[in-house]
Amino acid sequence: MTAPPGAEIQAMFGEIAPQYDLLNRVLSFGIDRRWRRRLVRELGLGPRHRILDLCCGTGDLALALADTGAAVVGADFTGPMLPLARDKAARSERPLHLARADAQALPFAAGSYDAVTIAFGIRNVEDPLQGLMECARVLRPGGRLAVLEFFPIRNRVWRWMFEGYFHHVLPRIARLTRAGRTGAYEYLPASVAGFASPDQFCDWIGQAGLCDASHHPLTGGVARLVLATRAPEPA
Ligand SMILES: C[S@@+](CC[C@H](N)C(=O)[O-])C[C@H]1O[C@@H](n2cnc3c(N)ncnc32)[C@H](O)[C@@H]1O
Repeated sequence: MTAPPGAEIQAMFGEIAPQYDLLNRVLSFGIDRRWRRRLVRELGLGPRHRILDLCCGTGDLALALADTGAAVVGADFTGPMLPLARDKAARSERPLHLARADAQALPFAAGSYDAVTIAFGIRNVEDPLQGLMECARVLRPGGRLAVLEFFPIRNRVWRWMFEGYFHHVLPRIARLTRAGRTGAYEYLPASVAGFASPDQFCDWIGQAGLCDASHHPLTGGVARLVLATRAPEPA
């Protein structure tokens, strides 16, 4: 399955935006926070770094990145997500720049970021390879890409548990809310099952011009952290 057209994705995320955080916490039992912290640790950031968090949604990862003192820009193409991220940043008094932008055509100069991050976003991008090429373009030589994502699970026992939860538990809980009635939580398992394998995704990263792509299981492989680098310029 390829992601639906951008307009459909925008409409879906626009509708669930007000309840996105609550559902995320409830449905992931809060584990998503731990995954975001792991990504931030991996990048070893500090105040001198410039970070782009793509598909930032309501800003959870962008704000965790801003905690390191790095200068963070959060970008998303769904309008209703951005005021929620802005309010959260204001409440926590953390500086966060926000931009409405499509991951496939970024309005940023080449080589302008030390790291680009994407949490649970690239699977929803209509042309993920084009999105990855844009990541490669805006990274400086030696800059890092870090992606959190769900991939189809190979282990049969884990897959059985995961699919049971995704197909039966999650949509039922979600349907109790307005967000759940949009179909977004039926889309989630379908989009994961139809997405690339972690190895295939690392191949795309290579095709996009980045190197040293590797993937690391989180919570027994329920999610994965994918890391890659833009090759440094030859000395
Ligand atoms: C599942 S949410 C993840 C939000 C956030 N990163 C998090 O971890 O909670 C996916 C986000 O990707 C955004 N998105 C999907 N396709 C996009 C694109 N082509 N350009 C920019 N944002 C996109 C959606 O608007 C949505 O906010």
